[in-house]
Amino acid sequence: MTGLREKYLTAIADAGDEAALEGVRLAALGKKGEVSLRMRGLGAMTPEERQTAGPALNALKDEIATALAEARARLADAALDARVAGQWSDITLDPRPLPQGTIHPVSQAMEEISAIFADLGFSVAEGPQVESDWYNFDALNIPPEHPARQTMDTFYMARAEGDNRPPHVLRTHTSPVQIRHMQDYGVPCRVIAPGRVYRADYDQTHTPMFHQVEGLAIDRDISMANLKWVLEEFCRAFFEVDGVELKFRASHFPFTEPSAEVDIRCSWAGGQLKIGEGDDWLEILGSGMVHPKVLAAAGIDPEQWQGFAFGMGIDRLAMLKYGIPDLRAFFESDLRWLRHYGFSALDVPTLQAGLSR
Ligand code: DAH
Repeated sequence: MTGLREKYLTAIADAGDEAALEGVRLAALGKKGEVSLRMRGLGAMTPEERQTAGPALNALKDEIATALAEARARLADAALDARVAGQWSDITLDPRPLPQGTIHPVSQAMEEISAIFADLGFSVAEGPQVESDWYNFDALNIPPEHPARQTMDTFYMARAEGDNRPPHVLRTHTSPVQIRHMQDYGVPCRVIAPGRVYRADYDQTHTPMFHQVEGLAIDRDISMANLKWVLEEFCRAFFEVDGVELKFRASHFPFTEPSAEVDIRCSWAGGQLKIGEGDDWLEILGSGMVHPKVLAAAGIDPEQWQGFAFGMGIDRLAMLKYGIPDLRAFFESDLRWLRHYGFSALDVPTLQAGLSR
């Protein structure tokens, strides 16, 4: 009997598929199976023999049946596993790619400047980069023979042959947007106009294309005092230094009267620029009260309206704030430079959350 048991349990364990298992079942428990035949043989035994052989055979039959059922389940599981493995597909997402690009310091500075002036009630205006010489010069009280036209190193656009009108220019400053804005929307107004400007100049602090932001505030009783407060508020917010100190130095621009250039207190100790401390002064912008002739050119009555304007170089502000030594690198698209000085696209500058953190 132990021989039988061993034989069939081993055969069950070795059976590699359902068909082999069925073969083992028939050989043991089928009508003519070895165990079945033995059970049939019980009748020919003496009662004493039957008393031990009967339960033993029954137990063997049960054991083999149980082993067969287990083996069948095992084979079914294995078959299912094999089928699933063949149909497997990866439904996990690829790891999210790290953001590769960065926000250029000029774009960052523009966003910061816009956020600060938005908080002071200024909206954003835009104008064309190819400008007529009337908007770029005449309307801003720079007549044709005015020396400012020469010092601006203007790029002139070509005219068709035989067309003797004055050529258009690549705007040399954002000031013409003052005129366009007042013409289109009238006064009172409070706007800034950031954008590209062009001058034929190239060295460590000059590139032929650079960025300015113009400011204009016109109402019935706006004064130099308002200009000073706005610029101080702006510098404090932009440089993120509470102790910002500005110096208004009398100057001359054709489009403002009076005019002032504004210097900011700074220190160069240890070769490192610090805003708001030290004994050095750095010029950061031009400003003044809008000249009556400029208002008149834009169709605004200078007897009724007055206000201030200012213009500053965005690239220069970005260099000062972020400690970038050479302006030319701004426009070379060197990836290492962009990664080093660039800003995360997901950190939008706001006054509440911090401008450049
Ligand atoms: N347009 C001047 C420039 O490009 C900057 C400037 C100075 C603009 C004084 C102004 C101003 O609006 O009032 O150098």
